[in-house]
Amino acid sequence: MFDEIVNRKGTSCAKYDALETYFGYSDLQPLWVADMDFKTPDIINDAIIKRAQHGIYGYTKPTTKTYNLVKEWMKKRHSWEIDTSWISFCNGVVPAYSAAIEAFSEEGDEIIVQTPVYFPLFNSIKHNNRTVVRNSLKEENGYYTMDLEDLKNKITSKSKILVLCSPHNPVGRVWDKDELEQLAKICIENNLLIISDEIHADIVFKKFTPIASISKEISNITLTLNSPGKTFNIAGLNCSYAICENKEIKERFDKEITKRELASVNVFGFTALEAAYEFGEEWLEELKKYLKNNIDFTKEYLIESNSKVEFLEPEATYLLWLNFKNTKLKHKEIKNLLFEKSKVALNDGRSFGTEGDSYFRLNCALPISQLEEGLGKIVTYF
Ligand SMILES: Cc1ncc(COP(=O)(O)O)c(C=O)c1O
Repeated sequence: MFDEIVNRKGTSCAKYDALETYFGYSDLQPLWVADMDFKTPDIINDAIIKRAQHGIYGYTKPTTKTYNLVKEWMKKRHSWEIDTSWISFCNGVVPAYSAAIEAFSEEGDEIIVQTPVYFPLFNSIKHNNRTVVRNSLKEENGYYTMDLEDLKNKITSKSKILVLCSPHNPVGRVWDKDELEQLAKICIENNLLIISDEIHADIVFKKFTPIASISKEISNITLTLNSPGKTFNIAGLNCSYAICENKEIKERFDKEITKRELASVNVFGFTALEAAYEFGEEWLEELKKYLKNNIDFTKEYLIESNSKVEFLEPEATYLLWLNFKNTKLKHKEIKNLLFEKSKVALNDGRSFGTEGDSYFRLNCALPISQLEEGLGKIVTYF
């Protein structure tokens, strides 16, 4: 099922149809944007078709079933007992994140992000006229950990929010419970709100712990953002949700998304979420096996080709944080070679922060035959 090659060109698809705009070339093999080149499962497609046959696409609202399915998904996939009253639906994790930045800080306040990280997480801070404070991750042989001493030193009276990317894009870490506990302790001691972006939580290769599930005390200072968008390849349906146990925080968040008109979800978004969370587990397990195999294949391919490119297998996601340091080339030279010679579109590591110097992010969620083709193009020059 995942071996099928689906032509996505000409479908208003950012990954394929925006190459010229982003890279200046239209003939690159797209291994960038974080969506998958696999069709969403039939159970979702069928539900959308059925909904479309109704023929009226008016304003939508979640039903009791929608809330219950999110609650059950958290319990069965992440052993997290939540109440439906903690859930707010929204039209995307990034819109929800941006609203939260505005709701819980003032202009000029400091917001801490753990870089390198998914760029909208710091861009939204800047766009809302807040100050980005970087708590860089520590890297050792490709393995990233949190620098909690640096975090403590970075906190000032202006610090309001700690942004957690869990699992982490692009470094692929699934944070251990212990690491999360230590982080939360610092946030509690310093009155920091935790915004935890957990959109990659379902595609994990080890146990994932939602930070708010650890204790009531941590739950009380956390706003969790999530969505079935990555898991089921339905990001374009713009359906996400926030989970927050603390009533006061939830009310402030709800007010902000209402003010910004973000609380109305696409009609097919709810349909897809419900089908995914009710019937999607089997497909998800198959997907994870396929992705794991693609990750292992990439690792072996690079080793067998004596490539200078390295990466550590991610604990989550299909995003590979490729390290080009051994090429001894400058970042710009690597970039030029990738785009002009290898003809592959990878995400520029620097867009995730200056820590991404000499790194490029490869998306391996595509049929293995196409992955092999892309890797061949990379190793010819590296
Ligand atoms: C960490 C992270 N958060 C959020 C998003 C995007 O979420 P949404 O499409 O729901 O705005 C992405 C997409 O790559 C991501 O990697």
